[in-house]
Amino acid sequence: MNDKNDIITLMNISRQYDSIENEVNKVVLDVLKSGKYIMGENVQQFEKEFAQYSGVKYAISVGNGTDALVIALKAIGIKAGDEVITCAMSFFATSEAISAVGATPVFVDCDKDTYVLNSKEIEERITLKTKAIIPIHLYGQCANMDEINLIAQKFNLKVIEDSAQAAGCEFNGKKAGSMGDIGCFSFFPTKNLGCAGDGGIITTNNEAYARICRGLRVHGSGLDGQFAYHKLNNLDLNQYDIDFDGNQPKYFNFMIGYNSRLDEIQAAILRVKLKYLDEWNKKRKKIAHKYDTMITNKHICLPYVANTNKHIYYVYVIKCDKREQLRKYLADNSITTGIYFPIPLHLQEVYKELGYKIGDMPNAESLSNNSLAIPMFAELTDKEVDYIIDTINKFEV
Ligand SMILES: Cc1ncc(COP(=O)(O)O)c(C=O)c1O
Repeated sequence: MNDKNDIITLMNISRQYDSIENEVNKVVLDVLKSGKYIMGENVQQFEKEFAQYSGVKYAISVGNGTDALVIALKAIGIKAGDEVITCAMSFFATSEAISAVGATPVFVDCDKDTYVLNSKEIEERITLKTKAIIPIHLYGQCANMDEINLIAQKFNLKVIEDSAQAAGCEFNGKKAGSMGDIGCFSFFPTKNLGCAGDGGIITTNNEAYARICRGLRVHGSGLDGQFAYHKLNNLDLNQYDIDFDGNQPKYFNFMIGYNSRLDEIQAAILRVKLKYLDEWNKKRKKIAHKYDTMITNKHICLPYVANTNKHIYYVYVIKCDKREQLRKYLADNSITTGIYFPIPLHLQEVYKELGYKIGDMPNAESLSNNSLAIPMFAELTDKEVDYIIDTINKFEV
């Protein structure tokens, strides 16, 4: 039995740090001593290592996952007046990025079983203004990328995979972030691969997109900024040969871009953690398997994993009609829970002028109303997992 005073948190990154403390401390100190804090060796190496891990040619690190989405959208040419289809169930950053580049998010419901973008409902939302689709690999499980890519091909749309919750997850053996035109990751500390602050990365096999993203992350400057400007405006790069006159190209700006870089300390930490990612994801899977097989309370609906998918359990989400009662009961028994997410995107106040109403996205709304994430992190002990299972099984309505 758990000591009632020992609260089991939903996530716990201190335990992860404890397990790699010496390694992390060393690389952080090395960076501090090097005096090279921005765009140094660790950033370059981490980009190579993450690209290799994800099975893509290029990885461009940025300041956070939201910027990754904004920069990716700009790189594929999304602008005011365009529409981008995405899932009604995600963290706000997904649709915020679409709005931030002046486009309109068009929401599609999630699948009732897997909770990811329901690809069957995409086609009916496509208009002449639709330019791209952003599936979210929600909770650590991939959207059906085969179906989404087929629709994208048919209607000449680009695909950006929001892989913020999906470092290491796979669809038919392919890694998240390697199947669309561009993939976007967040390294928010609690993610399966998280840094000690904010961080993000963009993945792609398209060299032009990689160059545009590199230009945009540093104020639209330098040779990559020049390339981005010409490519996005369909101009011939050779016609506009700029004479930098011996100055550094980085002081020449060609587009309004961003200051969005992953810093050296974060890159150094991520390089250490990337080595452990698969091992940590396996531990999460083992815990999920125990939850799957040992939570037997008939009031609880367990997550469903499509047979195409390798789930990495960023969060383990159960459903219960009496969610608030269950949440309070678990809190009373020292078990912390979370709700991902309490308001689906189509019902967010900021989008009220888009005209969506309650009932438009029944599966997303049901998740908002009935879902509950229970503790999930690689360092949960067997005793804690058993206690969580036992407590949930004893829940009575
Ligand atoms: C699905 C999804 N997209 C985008 C983001 C944004 O990432 P960041 O917080 O690094 O900006 C998150 C972060 O939680 C997310 O979960």
